[in-house]
Amino acid sequence: MLKKITESNTNIIIDENSFNTISKDLNIFYNPLMEINRTISILFLRSIEKHFQLKNKLNICLPLCASGVRGIRILKECNNINSVKFNDMSKNAINILIDNLKLNNIDYIQNKEFENNYINNENKVEYRKNKNIVFNMEANKFLHNTFYSDYIDIDPFGSPVKFIDSSLQKLNKNGFLAVTATDTASITGSSKTASMRRYGSHIFNCENKKELSLRVLATHIIKQAAKLDLKLTPIISYTVKHYARIYFKSEPGKKKVDKHLEKINSFYFCNKCRNYSIELNKCNTCQNELMSFGPLYSEKLSDIKLIKIMLSEFELLKKEINNLNFQKEIEFILNNQIEYNSVNLPFGYSISKIIKYKNINFELNKPDGRTPKLDDIINLIKEKGYDAYCVDKKYLLIKTNMPFKEFYELF
Ligand SMILES: C[S@@+](CC[C@H](N)C(=O)[O-])C[C@H]1O[C@@H](n2cnc3c(N)ncnc32)[C@H](O)[C@@H]1O
Repeated sequence: MLKKITESNTNIIIDENSFNTISKDLNIFYNPLMEINRTISILFLRSIEKHFQLKNKLNICLPLCASGVRGIRILKECNNINSVKFNDMSKNAINILIDNLKLNNIDYIQNKEFENNYINNENKVEYRKNKNIVFNMEANKFLHNTFYSDYIDIDPFGSPVKFIDSSLQKLNKNGFLAVTATDTASITGSSKTASMRRYGSHIFNCENKKELSLRVLATHIIKQAAKLDLKLTPIISYTVKHYARIYFKSEPGKKKVDKHLEKINSFYFCNKCRNYSIELNKCNTCQNELMSFGPLYSEKLSDIKLIKIMLSEFELLKKEINNLNFQKEIEFILNNQIEYNSVNLPFGYSISKIIKYKNINFELNKPDGRTPKLDDIINLIKEKGYDAYCVDKKYLLIKTNMPFKEFYELF
């Protein structure tokens, strides 16, 4: 059953079955929870123009576009777009996409039969570059045959790995790649073998899993891009319950790539006192042998200045569109990334785990007047001259540049 819904200020038709049951087996996929993901992509595209002082309008490529809501919203909510190339291998998805383009009065042409030889005809390329075009192909085949794009968005159900190489081949040298991974068991270390097999990093399930999952995904994509002499830098990265999402900026240059690869390191972890390190191999707090994991990208995962621009764009978007959904969630995600990236360490220290190891009998924030409050601990660290942010309330995970030994001794 087809059904009309509204997301942001866009009316779209979706398959009611795909609305109610989210499954990779369904042909026409619409996940209402991914509205957060789509709205953040709008904020990203609106903000990069200012942040990177882009002069030209962007050519957008959506190899897995489903019913087209992301692309249609991009065209309606961003002023800096030249064209969107829509592709999905599902015929049903494409039929619904076309209905949605018509519903929203968006001009498009359909690539009924892809002409392999169009590439030799410059005028034809120029003509097509500026058009919104609908393709119905397997995503890798589409990418191999299509234009270079300024922004490619890989948003599959499951792992993105099989689409990365072909996307990188068709990304402009100074372009942007957005990637969603919903295979959280692989990237968080819940499934150790999948993480190594798919992403080439050894990782385990721990209190830092949100940040480390982003680092697993980032590392894989940075290494794949390096093979093409492309430097890919993560500029916005976040996790939501069932997925991780990273936006990268690309730059060409062998030397830049070589330097960038130096930021991929082994990490070390003490499974007793919860020390994390990128330098030690023996714990300087409890003298335990440290476990190694990785390799993982160790630099910042988000650009704080860009996030701040996105937050101010969000204020504008809220004025342009009445009742934009998930406002609190989006603000939380963006602000949380500012906190995660204010300290240049690739992991945090968990108060809960340290207390457990030390077998100390107190609960933070207990209103008995004797036990410390989280804010008091953060203030104490700051008074000692360090930065400190609680980035995850569940584990009382603190990102701080205070040395672990000193942090450990606070409790
Ligand atoms: C999660 S949905 C995409 C959602 C969409 N990006 C959005 O923002 O709403 C995944 C889509 O990928 C399509 N798909 C899966 N594998 C594909 C492949 N190898 N080539 C092209 N499309 C594919 C499916 O038909 C489905 O429509």
